[in-house]
Amino acid sequence: MQRLKKKTALVSGASSGIGRATALVLGAEGAHVVLAARRSARLEAVAAEIDSAEVQVLDVCDADRCQEVLGERTFDIVVANAGLGLGLGSIQEGDPRDWRRMIDTNVNGLLHVVRATLPQMIARGSGDHVVLGSVAGFQVYPGGNVYCASKYAARAIYEAMRIDAGGHGIRFTTINPGMVETEFSLVRFDGDARRAKEIYAGMTPLRAEDVADAVLYAVTRPPHVNVGEMVLWPTDQTSTSVVHRS
Ligand SMILES: NC(=O)c1ccc[n+]([C@@H]2O[C@H](COP(=O)([O-])OP(=O)(O)OC[C@H]3O[C@@H](n4cnc5c(N)ncnc54)[C@H](OP(=O)(O)O)[C@@H]3O)[C@@H](O)[C@H]2O)c1
Repeated sequence: MQRLKKKTALVSGASSGIGRATALVLGAEGAHVVLAARRSARLEAVAAEIDSAEVQVLDVCDADRCQEVLGERTFDIVVANAGLGLGLGSIQEGDPRDWRRMIDTNVNGLLHVVRATLPQMIARGSGDHVVLGSVAGFQVYPGGNVYCASKYAARAIYEAMRIDAGGHGIRFTTINPGMVETEFSLVRFDGDARRAKEIYAGMTPLRAEDVADAVLYAVTRPPHVNVGEMVLWPTDQTSTSVVHRS
């Protein structure tokens, strides 16, 4: 049974990892999926795996472009997932360029997507708005500093949406995973594959599909049920700074 037939879903950051996996499960449930990110070839490859999909090359940091591409559309489901971490150094030695990019993508980019998509949901009186947060939005860890700050902000934005746009039939959800093996660490360590792999050494991280499954659960509940905050840990990770390795 396809539970999302006739629904249109937007997934930002659909070219990789959690966004890609989410786009695939929503598509498999019959949704028309709008895939947004910066790398068009990667988006086209994901679109080819979905019955009904379209590609929108979009940098979420560009507020005008978010409004232009998304503002006139109607989405039943929005998964605001695009995000990144850069570096794992101490705050006293951090690079302000990395800080700006993280804040611009994870905070401003999220706000741009929210601003462009919420008004039409309010006007129609329905919709599912899902924010990809992180356990880094609940606990700071060594070297996490500005990435954690951006994810604390994402949680505040989720809470703000519930308050400001509540009462219009919209469901607001935030999914907050611990360690997920995607391209996240590769991006964080500037393409250093060895260092990225080491992050998951001796432990079993979440898979992107585990997180996509949580998104699917939230958006397929009966209309009166709103899954709010979900936290998903790998069994081997018991806090943001405690990982049990074999
Ligand atoms: N992996 C983890 O351990 C983990 C844990 C908790 C939360 N998260 C969160 O989960 C989300 C997805 O991360 P992931 O693990 O799936 O990492 P990923 O594999 O690196 O995917 C990140 C996605 O975000 C997109 N993106 C980055 N900057 C963008 C921009 N300016 N405009 C549009 N799209 C942009 C990337 O696409 P392009 O490069 O093509 O633009 C890519 O599709 C992020 O918000 C991350 O913070 C990840």
